[in-house]
Amino acid sequence: TLATNATRPKFFKPGRFAFAFDIDGVLFRGPKAHPSAKQALTKLQENNIPFILLTNGGGKSEAVRSEDLSARLDFPIEPTQIVQSHTPVKAFASNYETVLVVGGEGENCRKVAEEYGFKNVFIPDDFYATDPGISPFTSGPPPEYARHVPAGTKIEAIFVFNDPRDWALSTQLMVDLLRSDNGVYGTLAPPDSKGPVTVPTFFTNGDRVWASQHHIPRLGQGAFKMALTSILKSFPDMAGRNVPVQVMGKPTFDTFRYAQLLLKRNLMAKLKLERPALPNLLERVYMIGDNPESDIHGANSASHNRTTWWSLLVRSGVWREPMNSRAPIAIVDDVLAAVDWAMENER
Ligand code: G3P
Ligand code: MG
Repeated sequence: TLATNATRPKFFKPGRFAFAFDIDGVLFRGPKAHPSAKQALTKLQENNIPFILLTNGGGKSEAVRSEDLSARLDFPIEPTQIVQSHTPVKAFASNYETVLVVGGEGENCRKVAEEYGFKNVFIPDDFYATDPGISPFTSGPPPEYARHVPAGTKIEAIFVFNDPRDWALSTQLMVDLLRSDNGVYGTLAPPDSKGPVTVPTFFTNGDRVWASQHHIPRLGQGAFKMALTSILKSFPDMAGRNVPVQVMGKPTFDTFRYAQLLLKRNLMAKLKLERPALPNLLERVYMIGDNPESDIHGANSASHNRTTWWSLLVRSGVWREPMNSRAPIAIVDDVLAAVDWAMENER
């Protein structure tokens, strides 16, 4: 008898296509894995289909995050399969010596930045410990891990790695440093200062909202950025002064390119290739996401170098009808439906 589509053994050419999964709203809602996340990933594993996780979340090293995810998913995830919002910041470690890193639990993000190679990494708690007066409404004693910030310390760049746990402290400190005399802690720029602020400021995630365990999406790092930049603009001494703000993470092309390079590198290691010799290596990457502004918009503009990105939108996260201008290739219920859709498309 002739094999039908349903009975025909599925054989996929190794490395021809791959997946990039968003985490919040796709694989997880808050701390809990989506009920079909494990099954979706297992399907890929059984068929030898490579994948990475591409998230605007962060706050832990890729190694810690992979252990945490593996346990919660009950499925092994390698550190090299994770791109977090701050992962591409590694490339900046040789550009700046003394930096402020904002966001995340405790001093986790300091540790991450040091792991990336930054030499002098301060966090907002250090400034609070040095002078609690900088944030009058921050309560409690400074944490034990906080370091002293010497007078005259010059912050060369600010990186927001993750959502600040104390918006007041982080907002106040960032406003202080961006209004300072060239990033020197405790100073104010002369009142007649003109021209751009000299402290480059990077937000690694521009998401206004994200899908946590609560049924209504929660404010994200993008909302923090909106608050901060509108406060800054309101100061008369900032009038006409450009603040060099750069947003990283999805949907930026750089983040998708980083993800694509990582997928290719993983694949070549797996296939033991020196160079991408196979002509149709990574012809297509399926981005499975819940946020039209980050995942879908980003994937729709990410295709380059003979790799086409296809966006699939799930209903399990922040997105609600109607569709905005960031239209995906298809809309499906959840992560498993997305994997099935793509695999069917590749047969
Ligand atoms: O803070 C996390 C959030 O903004 C998005 O995470 O996995 O949906 O990109 P993810
Ligand atoms: Mg998401």
